[in-house]
Amino acid sequence: LVKAVIFDLDGVIVSTDEYHYRAWKHIADDESIYFDREYNDRLRGVSRKESLDIILKNANRSYTLREKEELLLRKNDLYRKYLEELSHKDILPYVVRTIKMLKENGIKIAIGSSSKNAKFILSKLGLDDTFDAIIDGTMIEKSKPDPEVFLSASNLLQVNPNECVVVEDAIAGVESAQQAGMQVIGVGHAVIGTNITYKVENLRNIAEIIQEITEN
Ligand code: G6P
Ligand code: MG
Repeated sequence: LVKAVIFDLDGVIVSTDEYHYRAWKHIADDESIYFDREYNDRLRGVSRKESLDIILKNANRSYTLREKEELLLRKNDLYRKYLEELSHKDILPYVVRTIKMLKENGIKIAIGSSSKNAKFILSKLGLDDTFDAIIDGTMIEKSKPDPEVFLSASNLLQVNPNECVVVEDAIAGVESAQQAGMQVIGVGHAVIGTNITYKVENLRNIAEIIQEITEN
């Protein structure tokens, strides 16, 4: 039985992944560190701090804690400037329809995100009052692939993990959901190589997949 669907935010509800890429690219270029979209895919679902550590693996010198703090602040400032432009129009295709359908069927919905900007993004999109529970990067200790974010969401919803379905675009997020003992639907190109059963391009056929999971 499926009682709840937990959505990742970045890359599932809204395409902030492109903004993360541009902000990180800017930082990397300034520091003469190689960075491209393929690297960016590895940062999906990963916390800001851990993302920087991954990027700095390509640097030809080491960075002090203070320097890292400064880069993190700069990255977030750049990123927040992009976020300022967000509006309802930036909600990805089929998201609103999916949410409506789930609500009509009495299925609870939540957000499970590693982002500390999640609440800001949701308010920009006009989705602040839409979800039954929100767990974001400010509320967890361990980022994806740790299962904490999704377990906390299911806990808040008071639904058993095995009755939750996670919708994710990140490899780290898929792992996190699997470790939480939840079914997972992968969205987009970054999860193509994973061993999950359900992979989709967008949320168009989510209703059918949830129906299939329910029947299995
Ligand atoms: C999401 C994104 C990651 C990002 C993380 C932290 O999981 O997919 O790319 O690094 O959130 O985001 P934040 O907004 O806190 O920098
Ligand atoms: Mg994501």
